[in-house]
Amino acid sequence: MLGRLNHVAIAVPDLEAGARIYASVLGARVSAPQTEAAHGVRVVFVELPNTKIELLEPFGENSPIKAFLEKNPSGGMHHVCYEVADIMAARDRLVAEGARVLGDGQPKTGAHGKPVLFLHPKDFCGTLIELEQA
Ligand code: CO
Repeated sequence: MLGRLNHVAIAVPDLEAGARIYASVLGARVSAPQTEAAHGVRVVFVELPNTKIELLEPFGENSPIKAFLEKNPSGGMHHVCYEVADIMAARDRLVAEGARVLGDGQPKTGAHGKPVLFLHPKDFCGTLIELEQA
């Protein structure tokens, strides 16, 4: 069911500072910041030859990464995103396996304009998983 690793997301307290570290210190190509108001984050994409890193900064009062940054004030790995060919088929299979899909279980439009779902970290080795329809 799982396809390619689409991205690894790292939550950061300061997006510009994180972008500078990746661009200047690590020498990576980093996109301009964009606000994903519906997801409560501002993001930059670090383009690597085989995948992407997303740096996420909270946006708005109800940002889903606010609590994570309270626990991890200097930032940390927040989720991994795997590609699937058919997100509804993937969801139905996971629900049948007893996994918990976050929210109302309906895919939302993710940062790349494609349907995404998030899976409960307690069901997946302590890691929040995002599925994106490729
Ligand atoms: Co993501």
